[in-house]
Amino acid sequence: MPDIDSVLQENRSFEPSEAFRAAARVGDRAEYDRMYRESIDDPDAFWGRAARELPWIKPFDEVLDWSEAPVAKWFGGGQLNASAVCLDQHLTTDRRDKVAILWEGEPGDVRSFTYAEAHAEVCRLANVLKARGVGKGDRVAIYMPMIPELAFFVLACARIGAIHSVIFGGFSANSIRDRVLDGGCSAVITADGGWRRGKVLPLKAVVDKALEGVGGVHTVFVVKRTGNEIAWDDARDVDALELAKTASVECAPEPMESEDTLFLLYTSGSTGKPKGIRHTTGGYMVGTYLTTKYVFDLREDDVYWCTADVGWITGHSYIVYGPLANGATVVMYEGAPNEPHPGRFWELIEKHRVTILYTAPTAIRAFMRWGDEHVTKFDRSSLRLLGSVGEPINPEAWMWYRNVVGEERCPIVDTWWQTETGGIMLTPLPGVVATKPGSATLPFFGVDAAVIDEEGNELGANLGGLLAIKRPWPAMLRGIWGDDERYRETYWSKFDGEYYFPGDGARRDEDGFFWIMGRVDDVLNVSGHRLSTMEIESALVSHAAVVEAAVVPRPDELTGEAICAFVSIGPGAVASDELAEQLREHVATEIGKLARPAEIRFADALPKTRSGKIMRRLLRDIASGREIAGDTTTLEDFAVLDRLRSDAE
Ligand code: WTA
Repeated sequence: MPDIDSVLQENRSFEPSEAFRAAARVGDRAEYDRMYRESIDDPDAFWGRAARELPWIKPFDEVLDWSEAPVAKWFGGGQLNASAVCLDQHLTTDRRDKVAILWEGEPGDVRSFTYAEAHAEVCRLANVLKARGVGKGDRVAIYMPMIPELAFFVLACARIGAIHSVIFGGFSANSIRDRVLDGGCSAVITADGGWRRGKVLPLKAVVDKALEGVGGVHTVFVVKRTGNEIAWDDARDVDALELAKTASVECAPEPMESEDTLFLLYTSGSTGKPKGIRHTTGGYMVGTYLTTKYVFDLREDDVYWCTADVGWITGHSYIVYGPLANGATVVMYEGAPNEPHPGRFWELIEKHRVTILYTAPTAIRAFMRWGDEHVTKFDRSSLRLLGSVGEPINPEAWMWYRNVVGEERCPIVDTWWQTETGGIMLTPLPGVVATKPGSATLPFFGVDAAVIDEEGNELGANLGGLLAIKRPWPAMLRGIWGDDERYRETYWSKFDGEYYFPGDGARRDEDGFFWIMGRVDDVLNVSGHRLSTMEIESALVSHAAVVEAAVVPRPDELTGEAICAFVSIGPGAVASDELAEQLREHVATEIGKLARPAEIRFADALPKTRSGKIMRRLLRDIASGREIAGDTTTLEDFAVLDRLRSDAE
């Protein structure tokens, strides 16, 4: 596999401390090996037992039915309700008065909710939804800031069997419209605004724009958070919290079949259109419950903080469903990590005595750059475990995370997984594995992972190839909304249904540890967010000046990858800094600011193979290899390359 050369040499290894090991849920390698073996050799016994730790309304008859592969059925015959798993089960225990959600807004306002209080809030909002006719199977889009009502509305949908489709608050009106239409959403939940870097993000205004000319949405539920002025459509818009005041605090959870859809979450694929990844109820709850329990080694007195936004899968699985199913105290923070100062995260950790921190490499690198003093001036002695997710973590950032943030005391769990996998797939168990900086180490229970070549042969130690998963796991996606063929084609066709293909490159070292080497398809990973090159290209091409565009990643110290766009423009247009800026803004409007290219390079024409395919690998090399010239408007002369290529052929 000449495409994937591993250049990373990393020989350091860090054992968990004896103290950590002694107190851990699993602190002994032999026990871990036994559990892993059972999960592979006798998955029915392993997953059956795990599933029975959850409160089922009706017990399941069968653990796994794989007869309609690649669409798995887990826990068939069983009924449960995800919001009851997260809330109701704790109300008859000591956790009733334990804090479920401890929230801090960017301006510093704090709200906390016990399990009993969270239950009441969720029931109220569920009743508000019902009163406007939202019911089982309806799709509901949620576009909200990181406030407690976001988690409560997610759970309220689950409670009444409505399918939530959360759209990250950074997406543009166009992106919202696409998702609302694709999912056939009949209601939208939003807020007047949210706080971000001291400013109000006007979310309701973006929703209004997104819904212009969209006929199918009967209600927009609005949570008033920031008090900014908003437009109001009396026929469509309702004040959610006003209605909640008089709503009942009881709402019976809807019994859901294990395979009923719990939610859709849109993610980028290698073709232009975002995919509505479909997750179902039973398997997803079992998977997120068990991974949270073991990977974060949860204890009753932990204060757990995952810094992701609920708009991404990490927030779904490891802010809402997994931790609440475990009865954890979950910290939620609304704002930016450097507002009002670059030590905000560490201040929050000191203030709320956070014990477990789960964040992303891009954040870790930003903190590294801002300087150790912003970290060390706050007390981090409460921390006992650190986690990383979203992109490969470079060993330097890993070491900084361990030494500066964790004071060499806290194990790091580098967790590899995807929107599609629902939950963590590759990870150390913190009490067991001697971690190596930059490696996601070993498969979680029930995950049968391998590194294979293009023909599907397993590769030997340290050979770079494709990551592949051999068998179904409970939290896996069940399909793509409205496009089952695309599900088969994207994830299962590459190896004739034998392997799930995540689209990542990897190698396995001599200890069997996995080292993820990034995407092998046309997907970029910017700040841990997946973006499709095709989507950004079509956004660029929709601008009148652009004839053709090719988007490639280039390595970036802070964001992991940055977006570099090569653009050829029409005869009427002039390559200029102004046009570059216009194009960047155009992409931000079309998709969202997160997709705005870091760099635009103009070219006469894009370099192509004889068969007319854009030579992306070449563009990638150019994008990563060359210094950015002061004059960004120079046209790239690919004619030279063209001549070189024909000489070589
Ligand atoms: C990448 C986020 C290396 C990977 C949970 C994957 C990682 C994509 C890691 C999924 C990690 C995620 N090490 N790479 N620990 N975690 N990735 O769907 O390329 O937003 O395919 O899910 O992020 O991104 P997604």
